[in-house]
Amino acid sequence: MKKPVVVAALAAGLGLVAPFLVRAQQQPPAPHMPMPHMPMTQPPAHGTPPGWKLLLPQGDAARGREALGKFECYACHEVRGEKFPAPTEPGKVGPELSVMGPLHEQDYFVEAIINPGRLIEKGKGYEAPDGSSKMPSYNDSMTVQELLDLVTYLKSLAPPAGAPGRGGMRH
Ligand code: HEC
Repeated sequence: MKKPVVVAALAAGLGLVAPFLVRAQQQPPAPHMPMPHMPMTQPPAHGTPPGWKLLLPQGDAARGREALGKFECYACHEVRGEKFPAPTEPGKVGPELSVMGPLHEQDYFVEAIINPGRLIEKGKGYEAPDGSSKMPSYNDSMTVQELLDLVTYLKSLAPPAGAPGRGGMRH
C-alpha cells in the first residue's frame, strides 16, 4: 500500500512545480516593448489573427529614386520632372511614371515589380510575343529594402508635372 502514496506525493509535487514552470515561460514583455494590440480572442500560439493583412514597412523615397537609377528602370519608363536619362529601349517602353502615386495602392506597385505579368494593358506594346510583360524580373537582384523604397518613391510621384517625391511625405 506504499506505492499509491508515493505516486500521490509525486503528483502533488508536480502540481506545485508545473504552474511555476508555465509562469516562467510567460514572462511579461520588457518595459520598452509595446504591448501587442491583440484582442483576447486570439487563436492559440502560431495561429494567424483573423483578418490579417499584409502591412508593408515604410520605405525611403529618396533611396527609391536611387534604386530606379541603379536598376535602370528609366531605360523603359520616363519619369517626367526627374533627371534620369531618357528611355533607351523604344520597343520596350513602359508607362510614364510621374503621375503614378495616386493611381495605385502600395500593394499594386509591389506586384507590378515582383510579378509584372499579372496585369498587362493590351494594345500598348507592353507585351512580348509570348504574352509575357516586356518588363524584366528583378526578383534575383533586388533587395526587399530596395523594393520597399521603390514602392514609397512611386507612391510619392504625383501630378502636377511629376514633381519629384520628397521623402515620401505625400501618401
Ligand atoms: C525593359 C523595359 C522595362 C524595364 C527595364 C522596367 N519596366 Fe516597368 N514596365 C514595363 C512595361 C512594358 C510595363 C507594362 C506592362 C506591365 O505592367 O507589366 C511596365 C509596368 C510597370 C509598372 C506598372 C505601371 C502601371 O500603371 O500599371 C510599374 C510600377 C513599373 N513598371 C515599375 C518599374 C520599375 C520600378 C522598374 C525598375 C526596377 C521597371 N519598371 C523596369 C517595362 C519595363
